Order: sequence, then structure tokens, then C-alpha cells
Amino acid sequence: MEPSENRDFFRRIVAMAPMATGGNLPYRRLCREYGAVRTCSEMVLAHKLVKGGERPLLRHHDLETDFGVQLAGKRPEVMADAAVIAVEAGAAFIDLNFGCPIDLVVRKGSGAALLRRPRKLAAVVEAVRKAVAVPLSVKIRLGYSQQEINCVKVAPLAVAAGADAVGVHGRTRSQRYRLSADWSLIDEVAAAVAVPVIGNGDILTCWDLEKRRRETRIESFLVARGALIKPWIFAELKAGRPLDPDVPGRWAMMRRYFELACEHFGDDEKGLTRVKRFFLWHLGFWHRYYRWTREDFLAAAPSSLLQARNPHPPADPMQQLLASADPDDHQLIWQRILDKDHPSG
Ligand SMILES: Cc1cc2nc3c(=O)[nH]c(=O)nc-3n(C[C@H](O)[C@H](O)[C@H](O)COP(=O)(O)O)c2cc1C
Repeated sequence: MEPSENRDFFRRIVAMAPMATGGNLPYRRLCREYGAVRTCSEMVLAHKLVKGGERPLLRHHDLETDFGVQLAGKRPEVMADAAVIAVEAGAAFIDLNFGCPIDLVVRKGSGAALLRRPRKLAAVVEAVRKAVAVPLSVKIRLGYSQQEINCVKVAPLAVAAGADAVGVHGRTRSQRYRLSADWSLIDEVAAAVAVPVIGNGDILTCWDLEKRRRETRIESFLVARGALIKPWIFAELKAGRPLDPDVPGRWAMMRRYFELACEHFGDDEKGLTRVKRFFLWHLGFWHRYYRWTREDFLAAAPSSLLQARNPHPPADPMQQLLASADPDDHQLIWQRILDKDHPSG
């Protein structure tokens, strides 16, 4: 692709963000069925990939036509070799992770640690750019800490080194999820570079998207926790209105994930153990779903609904079960899925 086509690849998209565990293949497939067009692998550690590890993370389903691989690492030559392997395995684009906050990654100098070394970060981008021709994005944060906010400086360096788009998660590394994402800084990044900036942080409803579109120059978006809580969010954001499924529809969603996970991991004893582990993990997000209204959205502002408590705890026992954070209730839901003992949509 020509450089301009590579940039166009990232224009006006609402994509599923890269997520370790959450971005497992069957869950991405579920989101794809619910309207997610652009999907991304879980974070792949470049140094492991070049040594023959991490291969399962490169897999994608045929339905995932715009599937990318996210790489993390700090050595330009290793990242370049890893990108070649990912493209040979079918990645339609490469995303470079310069935002991972995990101690294990940061202590090794990768992920968000590279925000403190912008020239090194640019050297990684340059090496990957030379190695592969597919669209290339970077994913950064506002900075390493509140005292080290440098996204407006880092982004142009990444672009000069060959990035076709810059994803910006509107928080610092130290901040984790404590405060709402700062979209005015994401907007400043968009003013500083000529490539698409992909805004990221706290998109949970169609009203969030509408607000960010109205108040910033951002046209492309990444959705992470919103997709984990309600995989139909992509259809909702496209429609511009809530598409809240009823209770049978929510059971149908869980059943569909179960089927896709069984297809992927297997439904023998070993496979089912993995399916169960992922299913229970996903329940940790699914139970947070609520039929949020525009009034709830306005009442929570300027905080995000992701930061707010559920405004109206359900009274109906079945809805209470689905909203429960109790691990015993999650076991119960899993058992009902296994026994096909649930309303279906
Ligand atoms: C379970 C989970 C796993 C994540 N794993 C990754 C990852 O592997 N790579 C990455 O760049 N970001 C990762 N993130 C961060 C998200 O991509 C995103 O930047 C962040 O959650 C903010 O978006 P949100 O407010 O829509 O959740 C992860 C987030 C979650 C919730």
C-alpha cells in the first residue's frame, strides 16, 4: 500500500482495542458478529515471538478480515523481525505497544517505559516501518506519569519515523483507570500530527462517541472495556443509539461465546476447562452491564459511566443474577449455560 492508503486504513474507524485475555480469538469473533470490523491480537512479546513462542496469539478467524497484531518490545531489530513474522501469519496491520503499564513489561524497558525514551521509541517504529509495508499504528498514553506528559512530543516523532496512525489512551501509565480519560490532550495530539489519531478511553455508550466527535477533531476510536461489558457496542456505536438486548438476548450472547470458545479451545475435558476459565473471566465484565440512559450519561458527566456506580440496581431476580459480582453466581450462570437451562433470545 502507498503511505496515504496506509493512513486511510485508520481513518474514521471504531475498532476493538488490543486486550490481553479479553481479546481472545472467540471473543473477537463474537464482537465481529456484533459489528466490530477492526480487531487486534492480544499483546505479543516480540522477543518471545522471534524465538518461536507466542504463535497462538497470531491466529485469527477468517471472519476477521481487518485483523492486526500488536507487538511489544524495545529492540528495533527484534521488533522488525517480529513484525515480519506477524505479517507472514496474516496480520493486515501492525500496532506497536508503547502504553503497557504492567510492571513486568515496563521494568524490561518496553511498553510505557518507552514514553520516557522517545528517540528509542522512534528507532523501534523506524525499524518496523522498514521491515513491513502493511499499515502501522502506535499506541501511546498521555505520558509516563502526570509529571511527564509528553504525548504531543512523542506522537510527531513516531509519525516522522513512519507510523501511519497514533492511538492515544487518554491516561498516564501511573494513573491506571483511576481518573477519566483526558480527551483534550488526545485532541492536542491530533492537532500536532497529520495522520489519523485514534482516541481511546471510556467509550461505553453512543453518547460518549457523539460527545468526543463533537468536542474534538478525533474521527477514529478504540474501544476496550466497553466491548468487554457489551460486545454489541460496535453495532450500537454505528447505529448511534442504544441497542440494549433483553434478558434472553443476554443469555443468547453468553451462549454464543460458549459455542465459539468450544469451537476454538475444544469441548473435550481439557478444552472445557479453558472455556470455563475464559467464560468466568468474561463474566467479570459482562455483569457490569446496565441499560444506561442518556440521563445517566449526563448525570455522570464529566466522569464516564465506567467510573460511576450502577445508577439503578435491578429488582428482577434474573437481572440481579446477571448483574451479580459474586463468584458463586458466576458459577451458577456457567452451570446453566452448560445445562442449556436458560431463556434464549
Ligand atoms: C483486560 C484488558 C487488557 C488489556 N490489554 C492490553 C494490551 O494487551 N495492549 C494494549 O495496548 N492495551 C491493553 N489494554 C488497554 C486497552 O486497550 C485500552 O487502552 C484501555 O482499556 C482504555 O480503553 P477503555 O477505556 O475503552 O477501556 C487492556 C485493557 C483491558 C481492560
